[in-house]
Amino acid sequence: MPFTLTWYGHATLGLETGGKRILIDPYFTGNPAATVAADEAAADYILVSHGHGDHLGDAEAIQRRTAALIISNAEISGWLGRRGCQTSAQHIGGSVNYPFGQVKLTPAVHGSALPDGSYGGLAAGFLITTLDGEKIYLAQDTGLFGDMRLIGEEGLTLAVLPIGDKYTMGPHDALRALEMLRPRHVIPIHYSTWDMIRQDPLDFARGVEERGLARPHVLKPGESFSLP
Ligand code: NI
Ligand code: MN
Repeated sequence: MPFTLTWYGHATLGLETGGKRILIDPYFTGNPAATVAADEAAADYILVSHGHGDHLGDAEAIQRRTAALIISNAEISGWLGRRGCQTSAQHIGGSVNYPFGQVKLTPAVHGSALPDGSYGGLAAGFLITTLDGEKIYLAQDTGLFGDMRLIGEEGLTLAVLPIGDKYTMGPHDALRALEMLRPRHVIPIHYSTWDMIRQDPLDFARGVEERGLARPHVLKPGESFSLP
């Protein structure tokens, strides 16, 4: 099953696979890098990695408008469910099969408070397996951790990694992550949204190529990576 992954800036992504549109961490309103507005975003499913505002983003409004199913951890699913959203609760290490493929919540070393201060549970990443077995790892917000090796053992087609530093891995640790993940392709995210996480993605891409770790793809917000 082919897939197309679009980067909307920051950690906001759109995945099309299995005839479904999956939005990940839909932060459009207030995102200086976003190329589309929240009310233009299409979704059948919405994945929320953790409770921080730059990831929960417009999930609630987009869910109401589109009737998409929100997939997140039990705490965030419960919080959104009490606000009237349709959700599917999972937790770290657990997989669920959806019509477009499988979603497993992976560990992430990060916080997860919700905007009103509620406990958001553990921050997560996502391992998505398409219907024909392509594996896409979306690390979202995390520091480097050694169990990325276990995720890499799955045999990854694509890894999407933060390189912004300050709140997540920086470029140096993202290269170390790739040594464990060994994906065929890598896309950097969560950088240069604001000055405090400014990075040169081409410098990161050169590091990836020099070490022969993966094929790097530096996208501009709004651009897509497609696997035919
Ligand atoms: Ni965060
Ligand atoms: Mn973030």
